[in-house]
Amino acid sequence: MPSAGNTPADAPSAERHAADGSPYPDRTSATFERDVQAMFTHIVRRYDWFDHAASLGNDYLWRPRALWDLSRFRREDPPVARVLDVGCGTGDLTRLSARYFPRATVLGADFTEAMLRIADHRTRPETAAPRVGYLRANARRLPLASASVDVILSAFVARNLVDLPGVFREFHRVLRPRGSVLTLEITEPSSPLVGRLFHSYFDHVVPWLGAAVHSAGPYRYLPNSLRSLPSRAEMLDLLRSAGFARVEARPQSMGIVTSYLAGAG
Ligand SMILES: C[S@@+](CC[C@H](N)C(=O)[O-])C[C@H]1O[C@@H](n2cnc3c(N)ncnc32)[C@H](O)[C@@H]1O
Repeated sequence: MPSAGNTPADAPSAERHAADGSPYPDRTSATFERDVQAMFTHIVRRYDWFDHAASLGNDYLWRPRALWDLSRFRREDPPVARVLDVGCGTGDLTRLSARYFPRATVLGADFTEAMLRIADHRTRPETAAPRVGYLRANARRLPLASASVDVILSAFVARNLVDLPGVFREFHRVLRPRGSVLTLEITEPSSPLVGRLFHSYFDHVVPWLGAAVHSAGPYRYLPNSLRSLPSRAEMLDLLRSAGFARVEARPQSMGIVTSYLAGAG
Protein backbone atom coordinates (compact mmCIF):
# COMPACT_ATOMS: atom_id res chain seq x y z
CA MET A 1 0.00 0.00 0.00
CA PRO A 2 1.44 3.41 -0.90
CA SER A 3 2.26 5.78 1.93
CA ALA A 4 0.15 8.93 2.27
CA GLY A 5 2.97 10.94 0.71
CA ASN A 6 2.90 8.80 -2.45
CA THR A 7 -0.87 8.74 -2.89
CA PRO A 8 -2.07 10.73 -5.92
CA ALA A 9 -4.58 13.41 -4.90
CA ASP A 10 -7.53 11.57 -6.46
CA ALA A 11 -6.59 7.95 -5.69
CA PRO A 12 -9.22 6.02 -3.73
CA SER A 13 -8.16 4.55 -0.39
CA ALA A 14 -9.21 1.24 1.15
CA GLU A 15 -11.55 3.28 3.44
CA ARG A 16 -13.99 3.98 0.61
CA HIS A 17 -12.80 7.57 0.45
CA ALA A 18 -10.49 9.40 -1.94
CA ALA A 19 -7.41 11.13 -0.59
CA ASP A 20 -9.35 14.42 -0.39
CA GLY A 21 -11.85 12.72 1.98
CA SER A 22 -14.72 12.58 -0.54
CA PRO A 23 -16.73 9.31 -0.73
CA TYR A 24 -15.61 6.67 -3.21
CA PRO A 25 -18.23 3.87 -3.15
CA ASP A 26 -16.86 0.35 -3.54
CA ARG A 27 -19.33 -1.99 -5.25
CA THR A 28 -17.90 -5.01 -3.39
CA SER A 29 -18.45 -3.46 0.04
CA ALA A 30 -21.45 -4.39 2.22
CA THR A 31 -21.99 -0.65 2.76
CA PHE A 32 -22.16 0.17 -0.99
CA GLU A 33 -25.70 1.61 -0.98
CA ARG A 34 -24.96 3.75 2.08
CA ASP A 35 -21.76 4.96 0.41
CA VAL A 36 -23.68 5.87 -2.76
CA GLN A 37 -26.04 7.96 -0.62
CA ALA A 38 -23.05 9.61 1.11
CA MET A 39 -21.54 10.35 -2.31
CA PHE A 40 -24.70 12.02 -3.68
CA THR A 41 -25.07 13.94 -0.41
CA HIS A 42 -21.46 15.14 -0.83
CA ILE A 43 -21.98 16.37 -4.42
CA VAL A 44 -25.58 17.55 -4.10
CA ARG A 45 -24.84 21.29 -4.45
CA ARG A 46 -22.71 20.90 -7.54
CA TYR A 47 -24.57 17.93 -9.05
CA ASP A 48 -26.47 19.85 -11.74
CA TRP A 49 -23.80 22.22 -12.97
CA PHE A 50 -21.21 19.41 -12.93
CA ASP A 51 -23.62 17.27 -14.94
CA HIS A 52 -24.06 20.06 -17.51
CA ALA A 53 -20.30 20.70 -17.63
CA ALA A 54 -19.24 17.02 -17.81
CA SER A 55 -21.79 16.27 -20.55
CA LEU A 56 -20.80 19.49 -22.39
CA GLY A 57 -24.42 20.62 -22.16
CA ASN A 58 -25.76 17.54 -23.95
CA ASP A 59 -27.84 16.46 -20.94
CA TYR A 60 -30.21 19.36 -21.77
CA LEU A 61 -31.09 17.44 -24.95
CA TRP A 62 -30.96 13.84 -23.68
CA ARG A 63 -33.90 13.91 -21.25
CA PRO A 64 -36.42 15.63 -23.63
CA ARG A 65 -35.31 13.39 -26.49
CA ALA A 66 -35.79 10.29 -24.25
CA LEU A 67 -39.36 11.42 -23.42
CA TRP A 68 -39.98 11.83 -27.15
CA ASP A 69 -38.65 8.25 -27.69
CA LEU A 70 -41.10 7.13 -25.01
CA SER A 71 -44.12 8.80 -26.69
CA ARG A 72 -43.27 7.10 -29.98
CA PHE A 73 -42.95 3.78 -28.17
CA ARG A 74 -46.33 4.30 -26.43
CA ARG A 75 -48.24 5.46 -29.51
CA GLU A 76 -50.89 2.73 -29.17
CA ASP A 77 -51.04 2.74 -25.35
CA PRO A 78 -53.68 4.24 -23.00
CA PRO A 79 -53.28 7.83 -21.66
CA VAL A 80 -50.81 8.36 -18.83
CA ALA A 81 -52.37 9.09 -15.42
CA ARG A 82 -49.49 8.29 -13.05
CA VAL A 83 -45.73 8.64 -13.59
CA LEU A 84 -42.94 7.48 -11.29
CA ASP A 85 -39.36 8.80 -11.69
CA VAL A 86 -37.03 6.40 -9.86
CA GLY A 87 -33.67 7.84 -8.72
CA CYS A 88 -35.10 11.29 -9.50
CA GLY A 89 -32.12 13.16 -7.97
CA THR A 90 -32.73 16.92 -8.12
CA GLY A 91 -35.88 16.29 -10.17
CA ASP A 92 -34.95 17.50 -13.68
CA LEU A 93 -36.70 14.60 -15.41
CA THR A 94 -39.56 14.62 -12.86
CA ARG A 95 -40.43 18.24 -13.65
CA LEU A 96 -39.95 17.75 -17.37
CA SER A 97 -42.30 14.75 -17.35
CA ALA A 98 -44.94 16.76 -15.43
CA ARG A 99 -44.91 19.24 -18.33
CA TYR A 100 -44.85 16.42 -20.88
CA PHE A 101 -47.84 14.57 -19.37
CA PRO A 102 -50.10 17.52 -18.40
CA ARG A 103 -52.89 15.35 -16.96
CA ALA A 104 -50.68 12.98 -14.95
CA THR A 105 -49.64 12.99 -11.31
CA VAL A 106 -45.88 12.55 -11.05
CA LEU A 107 -43.93 11.03 -8.18
CA GLY A 108 -40.15 11.34 -7.84
CA ALA A 109 -38.48 8.67 -5.70
CA ASP A 110 -34.88 8.64 -4.49
CA PHE A 111 -33.01 7.17 -1.53
CA THR A 112 -30.83 10.27 -0.95
CA GLU A 113 -32.64 12.79 1.25
CA ALA A 114 -30.40 15.72 0.23
CA MET A 115 -31.25 15.25 -3.48
CA LEU A 116 -34.98 15.10 -2.68
CA ARG A 117 -34.81 18.35 -0.70
CA ILE A 118 -33.41 20.19 -3.75
CA ALA A 119 -35.95 18.49 -6.05
CA ASP A 120 -38.81 19.63 -3.85
CA HIS A 121 -37.46 23.18 -3.49
CA ARG A 122 -37.09 23.57 -7.26
CA THR A 123 -40.53 22.15 -8.00
CA ARG A 124 -42.51 24.50 -5.72
CA PRO A 125 -42.51 27.53 -8.08
CA GLU A 126 -43.64 25.42 -11.08
CA THR A 127 -47.23 25.55 -12.36
CA ALA A 128 -47.28 21.76 -12.32
CA ALA A 129 -46.23 21.63 -8.61
CA PRO A 130 -49.66 20.49 -7.30
CA ARG A 131 -49.36 17.34 -9.45
CA VAL A 132 -45.78 16.53 -8.36
CA GLY A 133 -44.67 14.79 -5.16
CA TYR A 134 -41.44 13.29 -3.81
CA LEU A 135 -40.82 10.20 -1.77
CA ARG A 136 -37.75 8.66 -0.13
CA ALA A 137 -37.50 5.06 -1.33
CA ASN A 138 -35.06 2.42 -2.48
CA ALA A 139 -35.61 1.29 -6.10
CA ARG A 140 -35.37 -2.33 -4.90
CA ARG A 141 -38.51 -2.03 -2.72
CA LEU A 142 -40.87 0.65 -3.98
CA PRO A 143 -43.59 1.46 -1.42
CA LEU A 144 -46.29 1.39 -4.11
CA ALA A 145 -49.14 -1.00 -4.84
CA SER A 146 -48.78 -3.50 -7.66
CA ALA A 147 -50.18 -2.34 -11.03
CA SER A 148 -50.51 1.29 -9.86
CA VAL A 149 -48.32 3.29 -12.31
CA ASP A 150 -48.52 3.90 -16.10
CA VAL A 151 -44.96 5.06 -16.77
CA ILE A 152 -41.69 4.53 -14.88
CA LEU A 153 -38.74 6.77 -15.73
CA SER A 154 -35.20 6.33 -14.54
CA ALA A 155 -32.21 8.36 -15.75
CA PHE A 156 -28.55 7.65 -14.98
CA VAL A 157 -29.38 5.43 -12.01
CA ALA A 158 -28.62 1.84 -13.15
CA ARG A 159 -24.85 2.09 -12.60
CA ASN A 160 -25.52 2.66 -8.88
CA LEU A 161 -27.79 -0.31 -8.31
CA VAL A 162 -26.71 -3.49 -6.53
CA ASP A 163 -29.46 -5.62 -8.10
CA LEU A 164 -30.48 -4.34 -11.54
CA PRO A 165 -32.48 -7.52 -12.47
CA GLY A 166 -34.39 -7.22 -9.16
CA VAL A 167 -35.11 -3.51 -9.79
CA PHE A 168 -36.49 -4.30 -13.26
CA ARG A 169 -38.77 -6.97 -11.68
CA GLU A 170 -39.90 -4.36 -9.15
CA PHE A 171 -40.67 -1.93 -12.04
CA HIS A 172 -42.72 -4.69 -13.69
CA ARG A 173 -44.65 -5.29 -10.45
CA VAL A 174 -45.75 -1.66 -9.99
CA LEU A 175 -46.64 -1.08 -13.66
CA ARG A 176 -50.21 -1.35 -14.89
CA PRO A 177 -50.91 -3.59 -17.88
CA ARG A 178 -49.69 -1.74 -21.01
CA GLY A 179 -47.53 0.48 -18.83
CA SER A 180 -43.98 1.37 -19.93
CA VAL A 181 -40.48 1.92 -18.60
CA LEU A 182 -37.96 4.43 -19.91
CA THR A 183 -34.40 3.99 -18.63
CA LEU A 184 -31.88 6.52 -19.92
CA GLU A 185 -28.25 5.50 -19.42
CA ILE A 186 -24.72 6.36 -20.54
CA THR A 187 -23.59 3.67 -23.00
CA GLU A 188 -20.64 2.60 -25.12
CA PRO A 189 -20.55 4.77 -28.29
CA SER A 190 -21.25 2.99 -31.56
CA SER A 191 -18.06 4.17 -33.33
CA PRO A 192 -14.65 2.96 -32.01
CA LEU A 193 -13.14 6.42 -32.59
CA VAL A 194 -15.88 8.16 -30.58
CA GLY A 195 -15.45 5.33 -28.02
CA ARG A 196 -11.74 6.16 -27.58
CA LEU A 197 -12.51 9.89 -27.11
CA PHE A 198 -15.35 9.01 -24.73
CA HIS A 199 -13.13 6.81 -22.54
CA SER A 200 -10.25 9.31 -22.44
CA TYR A 201 -12.72 12.01 -21.47
CA PHE A 202 -14.44 9.99 -18.71
CA ASP A 203 -11.22 8.35 -17.45
CA HIS A 204 -9.04 11.48 -17.37
CA VAL A 205 -10.89 14.79 -17.82
CA VAL A 206 -13.94 14.08 -15.60
CA PRO A 207 -11.86 12.83 -12.60
CA TRP A 208 -9.55 15.82 -13.02
CA LEU A 209 -12.54 18.21 -12.97
CA GLY A 210 -13.88 16.32 -9.94
CA ALA A 211 -10.58 16.63 -8.06
CA ALA A 212 -10.58 20.37 -8.83
CA VAL A 213 -13.83 20.74 -6.86
CA HIS A 214 -12.75 18.48 -3.94
CA SER A 215 -14.84 15.56 -5.20
CA ALA A 216 -12.14 13.20 -6.45
CA GLY A 217 -13.98 10.10 -5.15
CA PRO A 218 -17.35 10.66 -6.84
CA TYR A 219 -15.83 11.56 -10.20
CA ARG A 220 -13.42 8.63 -10.19
CA TYR A 221 -16.32 6.37 -9.21
CA LEU A 222 -18.28 7.68 -12.26
CA PRO A 223 -16.07 6.15 -15.03
CA ASN A 224 -15.52 2.98 -12.96
CA SER A 225 -19.25 2.50 -12.40
CA LEU A 226 -19.92 2.87 -16.13
CA ARG A 227 -17.87 -0.31 -16.64
CA SER A 228 -20.32 -2.21 -14.40
CA LEU A 229 -23.23 -1.45 -16.75
CA PRO A 230 -24.51 -4.24 -19.02
CA SER A 231 -24.19 -3.77 -22.80
CA ARG A 232 -27.27 -2.70 -24.80
CA ALA A 233 -28.07 -6.32 -25.73
CA GLU A 234 -27.64 -7.49 -22.11
CA MET A 235 -29.84 -4.64 -20.84
CA LEU A 236 -32.62 -5.67 -23.23
CA ASP A 237 -32.25 -9.31 -22.09
CA LEU A 238 -32.56 -8.20 -18.44
CA LEU A 239 -35.76 -6.30 -19.26
CA ARG A 240 -37.20 -9.33 -21.10
CA SER A 241 -36.28 -11.60 -18.17
CA ALA A 242 -38.10 -9.20 -15.80
CA GLY A 243 -41.30 -9.87 -17.77
CA PHE A 244 -41.39 -7.08 -20.38
CA ALA A 245 -42.76 -8.40 -23.66
CA ARG A 246 -41.73 -5.47 -25.86
CA VAL A 247 -38.25 -3.90 -25.50
CA GLU A 248 -36.26 -1.44 -27.55
CA ALA A 249 -32.95 0.50 -27.34
CA ARG A 250 -32.72 3.92 -28.99
CA PRO A 251 -29.18 5.38 -28.96
CA GLN A 252 -28.65 9.15 -28.90
CA SER A 253 -25.52 11.29 -29.54
CA MET A 254 -23.65 8.52 -31.43
CA GLY A 255 -24.53 6.02 -28.72
CA ILE A 256 -23.08 7.98 -25.78
CA VAL A 257 -26.49 7.57 -24.13
CA THR A 258 -29.33 5.15 -24.85
CA SER A 259 -33.05 5.26 -24.11
CA TYR A 260 -34.17 1.76 -23.12
CA LEU A 261 -37.90 1.28 -23.54
CA ALA A 262 -39.92 -1.63 -22.19
CA GLY A 263 -43.64 -2.34 -22.37
CA ALA A 264 -45.57 -4.46 -19.86
CA GLY A 265 -48.16 -6.86 -21.21
C1 LIG B 1 -26.76 10.23 -11.27
S1 LIG B 1 -28.14 10.63 -10.26
C2 LIG B 1 -29.43 10.83 -11.48
C3 LIG B 1 -30.49 11.77 -11.03
C4 LIG B 1 -31.57 12.09 -12.04
N1 LIG B 1 -32.28 10.92 -12.46
C5 LIG B 1 -31.03 12.82 -13.24
O1 LIG B 1 -31.42 12.51 -14.37
O2 LIG B 1 -30.24 13.78 -13.04
C6 LIG B 1 -28.57 9.05 -9.55
C7 LIG B 1 -29.64 9.17 -8.46
O3 LIG B 1 -30.09 7.85 -8.16
C8 LIG B 1 -30.27 7.73 -6.78
N2 LIG B 1 -30.17 6.30 -6.44
C9 LIG B 1 -29.12 5.48 -6.60
N3 LIG B 1 -29.41 4.23 -6.18
C10 LIG B 1 -30.71 4.27 -5.76
C11 LIG B 1 -31.58 3.30 -5.21
N4 LIG B 1 -31.18 2.03 -5.00
N5 LIG B 1 -32.84 3.67 -4.89
C12 LIG B 1 -33.24 4.97 -5.07
N6 LIG B 1 -32.45 5.94 -5.57
C13 LIG B 1 -31.20 5.59 -5.92
C14 LIG B 1 -29.16 8.59 -6.18
O4 LIG B 1 -29.47 8.97 -4.85
C15 LIG B 1 -29.13 9.76 -7.16
O5 LIG B 1 -29.96 10.81 -6.75
